[in-house]
Amino acid sequence: MAKVKFFSGENVPLEMHKVRIVQKLNLVPIERRLEAITEAGNNTFLLKNTDIYLDMLTDSGVNAMSDKQLASMMESDDSYAGSATFTKLENKIRELFGMEYFLPAHQGRAAENIISRVYVRPGTIVPMNYHFTTSKAHIVLNGGAVDEIIIDEGLEVTSDCPFKGNMDTAKLEAIIQKNGADKIAYVRIETGTNLIGGQPHSLENLRQVRKVCDKFGIMIVFDASLLADNLYFIKTRESACKDMSIREITRAIADLCDIIYFSARKLGCARGGGICTRSKDAYMKMRELVTLYEGFLTYGGMSVREIEAIAVGLEETMDEDMISQGPQFIEYMVTELDRQGVPVITPAGGLGCHLDAMRFLPHVPQNQYPAGALASALFLVSGVRGMERGSISEQRDEQGKETYSNMELLRLAMPRRVFTMSQLKYAIDRTVWLYRHREMVGGLSFIEEPAMLRFFFGKLECTTDWQHKLLAKFRADFGESL
Ligand code: F0G
Repeated sequence: MAKVKFFSGENVPLEMHKVRIVQKLNLVPIERRLEAITEAGNNTFLLKNTDIYLDMLTDSGVNAMSDKQLASMMESDDSYAGSATFTKLENKIRELFGMEYFLPAHQGRAAENIISRVYVRPGTIVPMNYHFTTSKAHIVLNGGAVDEIIIDEGLEVTSDCPFKGNMDTAKLEAIIQKNGADKIAYVRIETGTNLIGGQPHSLENLRQVRKVCDKFGIMIVFDASLLADNLYFIKTRESACKDMSIREITRAIADLCDIIYFSARKLGCARGGGICTRSKDAYMKMRELVTLYEGFLTYGGMSVREIEAIAVGLEETMDEDMISQGPQFIEYMVTELDRQGVPVITPAGGLGCHLDAMRFLPHVPQNQYPAGALASALFLVSGVRGMERGSISEQRDEQGKETYSNMELLRLAMPRRVFTMSQLKYAIDRTVWLYRHREMVGGLSFIEEPAMLRFFFGKLECTTDWQHKLLAKFRADFGESL
């Protein structure tokens, strides 16, 4: 985004793109929204798009594509083996990451499957700054364990620490000393740490992690799905990097890693994924699994059109104007909500704005799922769909007891270049209204609870008739307004 000063003194992020294709949206009346969220069992994953106004569920696969990406899709080279389109992406990876080998996969979790199957053995540990749901699941499935060693500030909901996604390197060294280097499958760094609010790590922290890993001969596997946001934060928050180009920062990161994998549903604004490495040995170990689970080595489960779009999207990620749009819109929303007293995760991160449900709804106990209740209530009063990132997203333990999450968050994701400032203002307005009436929001309890992945499929009901009362209050305050 251009650094443009407004005469009014207002701090407004100014878009450096224009919209050339639009999709019509629906904003259905609150009465229909109540029916829709009830039909969905108060689970926003089960809502239908026709009932949703602003879809802030995720940034995955729904970022706006550029004219150049769409144009490139027309010239993709469709062939099972040896596609020229694949060579284009392979060359782009070589250029940006300096890594010789690229293995395609149909999305991020498919890359995680392959890496975990090759490197995780029963009894091994994967230290990481923080887990992501699918990355942890694949490690556990292969008999490994995850050890999260985020710095202490990472779990503080409000903070002014610029790099809450940093790894505690003293803890890393202690884990290795205690278990022995041979028990460490690899060290995983997640850039733009998803589940703690899209919080970045610094380049310096990655250098320190590398030092420890070098001492013990351990590999770094880098999840680059949210790299675009993290690059922006390194450029703007890490003073030693302020004169580096985005391309130079990208290369400096890649040079510190052994394996980089990503979801191209996020990085590169398309759909797909892949694994990059400069080690022929690593490439050879993973290659067969790609052909077995994904497809031949020159498409890996992706459409060639998407592969073209990823190659262009990765190049566009080197443009500061492009990567700043998401973080700056998020910062606008976080700052505005914070100013109006609404509890949010600070500092603003990438990925989206995160509401802190524990402070938003302190009267809703964790066994009534405050983040889930907040997701349901916000949809009801606005048609904005967020994602519960709290205890519903956890799993019960072997005894069937709840494992409550560290944080109860409602994530309002900001797909890149998708929403306008007025839509953002609408989402802020309705969130503030809900906060002013927060005591009306009650809890939820399960009526259908699958044993696995309950956050995707589970259905819940309200513990009282709080939604009807909230609807009546909405009508009293907003009259005929949608
Ligand atoms: N790693 C990170 C950091 C992610 O955020 C995701 C996906 C994945 C890996 C898996 O990639 O979806 O392509 O298989 N995050 C999505 C989200 C699902 O909504 O945050 P995938």
